[in-house]
Amino acid sequence: MIASLTQNQPAWHRKDLISIAALSAAEITQLLDTASAFKDVGTREVKKVPALRGKTLVNFFVEPSTRTRASFELAAFRLSADVINISASTSSLTKGETLKDTAKNLEALLADIIVLRHSSAGAAQFLAERLDASVINGGDGAHEHPTQALLDTFTIREKKGKIAGLHIAIIGDILFSRVARSNIHALIKLGARVTLCGPPTLVPRSFESLGVEITHDLDALLPQVDVVNLLRIQHERQRKEYFPSLGEYTAFFGLTKQRAARLRDDALIMHPGPVNRGVEIDSDIADSSRSVILDQVTNGLAVRMAVLFLCASARAS
Ligand code: CP
Repeated sequence: MIASLTQNQPAWHRKDLISIAALSAAEITQLLDTASAFKDVGTREVKKVPALRGKTLVNFFVEPSTRTRASFELAAFRLSADVINISASTSSLTKGETLKDTAKNLEALLADIIVLRHSSAGAAQFLAERLDASVINGGDGAHEHPTQALLDTFTIREKKGKIAGLHIAIIGDILFSRVARSNIHALIKLGARVTLCGPPTLVPRSFESLGVEITHDLDALLPQVDVVNLLRIQHERQRKEYFPSLGEYTAFFGLTKQRAARLRDDALIMHPGPVNRGVEIDSDIADSSRSVILDQVTNGLAVRMAVLFLCASARAS
């Protein structure tokens, strides 16, 4: 199966995955196709392949995470790699060790792949330029979250059969969202029409340079779209109030039951998690049949298997 993954595909040459902005449409498609093959592994009785046997992955999370960290850990197990998890609070970062020194020490322990989540934009690129190990960006500040965009794109392609030509709305706190940036790059490269919607303070016109449209009228937008992707308010990255109150935000930009009724019957409702129920999305809508929020999480496993497999293979060759 592993040999068949790379047949008829352009050679993947990157040891690191730092951003979607750096990828071509062909590279994104290769990642999605490889993830499709790995998703089949999850349907077998023995859900493991030996692709990364003998390799060591370090999950180095300097910011909190549930989905990304657990998903990379499980993806590595499914590929037969060994895994260790390090968090900021239990590492020697708390004693003043630098990020570079910590990572160099992990490499000295023969880590082959380091998955880094960090609050500073550029942290993953910084390490990738200094380490022989593969570095995978698990989210860096408000810059990028490439595997989230890949799993979102994978889920849309799986449910709709295509990306090109779809109209996709990304709603909410765009300014501080690494998920939004990575999604915009992936969807535009694959030929989707993307409209951003939220308060003007959180959806500045400068995003138009990425090839998206912008509106602040959610009620008018909802009947037009194939997919609506709702973002969490990133309180941890906002340094001042960008809207009067959460209640005011929900009144204008929350996917309430009344607003969800404006969507087409076949529209997908997405959210990268963690969800603030009752703020960006009504709790019942988050659990409704049109919501693919948990499918996104399931698909993240196959997507991360693909990323680990391709980056480790490129490093080895
Ligand atoms: N979507 C996402 O990145 O979730 P976590 O912060 O739980 O990893």
